[in-house]
Amino acid sequence: MEFSEIVQQRRSIKSYLPDKEISDAELKELMQEVVLSPSSFNLQHWTFIAVRDNSLKEKIQAAAWGQEQVLTCSVLLVVCGKLNAYQDAPEIYKDTPQGIQEKVLPIIKDFYDGKGQLQRDEAIRSASLAAMILMLAAQNRGWATVPMIGFDPEAVSKLANLRPNYIPAMLMTLGYKKDDPRPRDYRRPIEEIVRINTLDGPGLMG
Ligand SMILES: Cc1cc2nc3c(=O)[nH]c(=O)nc-3n(C[C@H](O)[C@H](O)[C@H](O)COP(=O)(O)O)c2cc1C
Repeated sequence: MEFSEIVQQRRSIKSYLPDKEISDAELKELMQEVVLSPSSFNLQHWTFIAVRDNSLKEKIQAAAWGQEQVLTCSVLLVVCGKLNAYQDAPEIYKDTPQGIQEKVLPIIKDFYDGKGQLQRDEAIRSASLAAMILMLAAQNRGWATVPMIGFDPEAVSKLANLRPNYIPAMLMTLGYKKDDPRPRDYRRPIEEIVRINTLDGPGLMG
C-alpha cells in the first residue's frame, strides 16, 4: 500500500471482529517496524505490554471507562515509557566506538539526571512516536487500532505490574475492523496550523 493511502485510511476503530486473533509471529513482525522509531539519544524509552488474557482485559476495561474495544480487540497494548531510560545508555552504546561513548555518555547523564519532568516528557514523547509507527504498521497489514488515554493510570500500572520507573503513556487496542467508521471529523485547516517563523506569522501561501 502507498504510504499516503495508509495515512488516509488509518482511523480510530472501536468495533472489532471478536474472534480474530493476531499471532505472536505477526505481532513480532509489526514490532520489528516499531523498534525503528526515533528516540532522543536512541534511548528507546518504550515497552509494550501485550495483554491477551481475557480476565486481565476485563479488569483493564473496568479501569478504562468500560470502553468496549478494550475487551473485543485481538490484543490490548499498554504502551509504556521508561522514566530512567537514560540509565540504559551504557548498554545501548556498548558497540559504538569508544571515542563516541566517551563523548556522549556524560552528555546523556548530565541532560537527564535529577530532571524528573524531562524524564517523564521523554518517556511519553518516545512511547508516543513508537505508538504512531505501530498504528501505521498495523494499518499497512490490515489491522485497526485506537490509541487511548481514557483510563486510570494508577489502576492500569498495578494491573500490568509496572515498576515505578515505568508509566503507561497510552493504551492501544489492535483488532480487525468490524464496521466502517463514520466519516472523519473536522480537521483544522492547514492555513491555521502552520505559521511561518513565529506563532503570529502568516500561514502557508498557495
Ligand atoms: C492520545 C490519544 C488518546 C485518545 N484516547 C481515546 C480514548 O480513550 N477513547 C477513544 O475512543 N478514542 C481515543 N482517542 C482517539 C481519538 O478520539 C481520535 O484519534 C480522533 O477523534 C481522530 O479520529 P481518527 O483517529 O479516526 O482520525 C485518542 C487519541 C489519541 C491520539
